[in-house]
Amino acid sequence: MRFNRINKECIALKSKLMQLEEENTRSHVGNEELFYQSRLAQMGEMISMIAHQWRQPLSAISLTAIGLETKIRLNKLDFSTPENIAKAQEYILGRTDLIAQYVNSMTTTIDDFRMFYKKDRQKELVAVEDILDRTLKIIGVSLETQEIEIQIEYNDCPKVWLFPNEVVQVFLNLLQNAQDQFTANRIAPAIITIHIQGVNDGIEIKFTDNAGGIEASTITKIFRPYFSTKEKQNGTGLGLYMSKTIIDEHHGGQLSVSTTSNGDGACFTIFLPMGSKE
Ligand SMILES: Nc1ncnc2c1ncn2[C@@H]1O[C@H](COP(=O)(O)OP(=O)(O)O)[C@@H](O)[C@H]1O
Ligand SMILES: [Mg+2]
Repeated sequence: MRFNRINKECIALKSKLMQLEEENTRSHVGNEELFYQSRLAQMGEMISMIAHQWRQPLSAISLTAIGLETKIRLNKLDFSTPENIAKAQEYILGRTDLIAQYVNSMTTTIDDFRMFYKKDRQKELVAVEDILDRTLKIIGVSLETQEIEIQIEYNDCPKVWLFPNEVVQVFLNLLQNAQDQFTANRIAPAIITIHIQGVNDGIEIKFTDNAGGIEASTITKIFRPYFSTKEKQNGTGLGLYMSKTIIDEHHGGQLSVSTTSNGDGACFTIFLPMGSKE
């Protein structure tokens, strides 16, 4: 009798376990789906950053080519004597060399972006300033075009173990959000301060902007998935949710938000522990 009851309970427990496992798998799939969606949204933003970064070299290439063509069409290049031919050749080669340099800078841009899209396989021991450098290579020109100044305050701090591309993704999200806010509120001068310092057992990175701040009723919700105040601009509401998942869960750190003491901006603080290879 007793044995029967225990057996029944065992079967019930087993089925409960299977149900929990299934739910767990489903929620994992859900999270992966969110990662995918947020990556996709960021890819869209990346394309517009590439466009920004390419605008200058593209117009330089076009101007150089037009200049060269005009000289040839108007017979401004003198091929009459061997000496003049040498001069003309030098001029033409100088121009084509310039074009090659511009093309080179455009290729570098693509490489920077490609590097970002590689999935991190393992943690690396890196200096956070290098991660910041890589982030600014991607979004720097876009910020410059919008006249947003970046001030970096860096105190000597230790290298930490992290997933480089994931942390680039977090930095990009924070800078993009500040940029969105500057544009929406038409702030000038627009300044983002990035303060990096070593703290007990890790490092702390603070992104502070003067873009207007976040309302008290909003600030409690910004880390929720799909929460966005950018209905018109098609905000995904995934950037900060993903950023928090990356910092808190993947790195055992902490991402938090506050309003600046004078209330004119937002301050995002990231704590990253020293971590380990695993
Ligand atoms: N620097 C900031 N200043 C003011 N509000 C911000 C800032 N960063 C984020 N927010 C608020 O947090 C919300 C969620 O941000 P996020 O998760 O990146 O989604 P999205 O940018 O798609 O709206 C934003 O819609 C905005 O209201
Ligand atoms: Mg965002």
